[in-house]
Amino acid sequence: MKSVRDLQVTGKVVLVRCDFNVPLKEGVIRDDNRIVQALPTIKELLSKGAKVVLMSHLGKIKHKEAPEVVEAAKAKNNLAPVAVRLGELLGKEVKFCGATRGEELKAAVASLNGGDVLLVQNTRYEKGESKNDPELAKEWASLCDAFVMDAFGSAHRAHASTHGVPSVLKEEGKQVALGYLVEKEVVSLSKVVDCQARPYLAILGGFKVSDKIKVINSLLKKCDKILIGGAMAYTFVKALGGEIGISPCEEDQLEYAREMYASGKILLPVDSVVANDFDNPTEVKVCDTDKIPAGFEGLDVGPKTREIYAAEIAKAKTVFWNGPMGVFEKEAYQAGTIAVCKACAELKDAFTVIGGGDSAAACKQFGYSDKFSHVSTGGGASLEMIENDGHLPGIDVIG
Ligand code: 3PG
Repeated sequence: MKSVRDLQVTGKVVLVRCDFNVPLKEGVIRDDNRIVQALPTIKELLSKGAKVVLMSHLGKIKHKEAPEVVEAAKAKNNLAPVAVRLGELLGKEVKFCGATRGEELKAAVASLNGGDVLLVQNTRYEKGESKNDPELAKEWASLCDAFVMDAFGSAHRAHASTHGVPSVLKEEGKQVALGYLVEKEVVSLSKVVDCQARPYLAILGGFKVSDKIKVINSLLKKCDKILIGGAMAYTFVKALGGEIGISPCEEDQLEYAREMYASGKILLPVDSVVANDFDNPTEVKVCDTDKIPAGFEGLDVGPKTREIYAAEIAKAKTVFWNGPMGVFEKEAYQAGTIAVCKACAELKDAFTVIGGGDSAAACKQFGYSDKFSHVSTGGGASLEMIENDGHLPGIDVIG
């Protein structure tokens, strides 16, 4: 596939789809990693003298809701603070256009000189974005001479800005390319899609088994073992006849959990840190995972599990990790997630990948981010890449 490095775009308008879906609270950016990761592509285009137009979604906007609910969602998911932060990081002005289509947007693009950067308001302000509306894609495509896909975190979405625009441009014979962030993600994630270095260990946590069915099915074919943690472990434990107290359980996934466990590749926590109340516990203790007392909830893997999982990790040559082992936001339930960070960090000659989302936030919080071979900027995208054997619609469309 063509790379941003191959584009001839001096004086041309290049539309770059980024993933600036950053955590925002009252207009303040809590983590600018996705903006930082977009810099190499933007700088490359600036060095070529292109007119750089950036697009991204932010949050979710449900257009079927009442108009005042939609307006509130738009206000909450206003992309303007990203233009300010990007300007600071680039050391130059980043213009911002509040319109997502029409004359105002056209005029903002027309006013650009080579070496200028313009960020367009949240693509999801348009209801046609998530539906991959052809008219919207055509309008956006008409603004530019070339397109660069650098939104790895959104590459699993076939939306107007990720899929429609490059499809139109390709039909018109215009240049479309991958950005440096997407290229880096693809190189690293390919090593966990098509693993060469074994043992290959997957570590999965998070809340629901139902969210991870496809990826578990796919990983069972690819990897040697899967370590399970987080709330989803309790559905497996109950499926095998254990007592899980008031731990969360998906009753409709019990049969599936039994089938997956029968593969012989799944390891479950043998002990858990449990509490009698999530917000205000009066008792927090460790017990066997299959003997959690009535009225207690499992909130982290226990010390024996931490040892067993660390020993498994120590043998691995390839590791893919998605989902924390416990409620790592609370100090009492962080030890399992920290143990996994530490064991992965101690590996030598192994390739370790974090599949974005909460596990990336956890490893950052505990100071381990630079100890992993790759921390993906895409949670859903990295999981879907594994599920679909390396294919994502927003990347395939560039080829
Ligand atoms: C993400 O944060 O996972 C991506 O930006 C995709 O966001 P979405 O799930 O709202 O499409």
